[in-house]
Amino acid sequence: TQHKVGYFVGSLAKESINRKLAQALVKLAPPQLEMTEISFADLPLYTYDYDSDFPPVATAYKDALAVVDAVLFVTPEYNRSIPGGLKNAIDWASRPYGKNSFTRKPSAVIGTSPGAIGTAVAQQHLRSILSFCNSPQMNAPEAYIQFKPDLISDDSEVTVESTREFLRGFMHDFHVFITRVRSVLPQE
Ligand code: FNR
Repeated sequence: TQHKVGYFVGSLAKESINRKLAQALVKLAPPQLEMTEISFADLPLYTYDYDSDFPPVATAYKDALAVVDAVLFVTPEYNRSIPGGLKNAIDWASRPYGKNSFTRKPSAVIGTSPGAIGTAVAQQHLRSILSFCNSPQMNAPEAYIQFKPDLISDDSEVTVESTREFLRGFMHDFHVFITRVRSVLPQE
């Protein structure tokens, strides 16, 4: 089955290593997954004061989420959690009350860091948030990618074969997971 996947890059940095990972994942995804980035850089800081009158940038963001069948989070770990910009984007997506964009939307999380534990703590925080947002999450495989300078080439190829095949398997399993969830939990 064909599925649209919206991916979030948790970092806003120009040279983000998580963006490099996301671009590599796009290349490794099975052909059944149509990958598009969900951009959140232009969202203002969320407050519920906006709930009665969402600004156009937030409406466009919610619309982009509405048309995807699943979401993939590719995020760094900042101070043992997710970056503030990504949390802000999730808060926007969850509101207004009753219009949570993540309800029943399958998700997966992955991230890379130069550190040895490869964003593990940030991913645990993100999983707690996504649980509250009622997103069915792919539990396994987990993916904690330790970034090395030459891991991903300028044309988004993963240079280490074992890592490349692991990531290809991750995207394959995500496709299987999305198909399964969507068959039992149709969207409203
Ligand atoms: C970091 N970094 C980091 N790394 C990590 O493994 N655990 C952590 O808790 C943190 N904390 C942290 C806080 C802040 C504010 C910054 C800027 C950085 C290092 C981080 O992994 C590294 O900068 C990566 O390059 C971040 O990924 P992006 O933004 O390049 O995708």
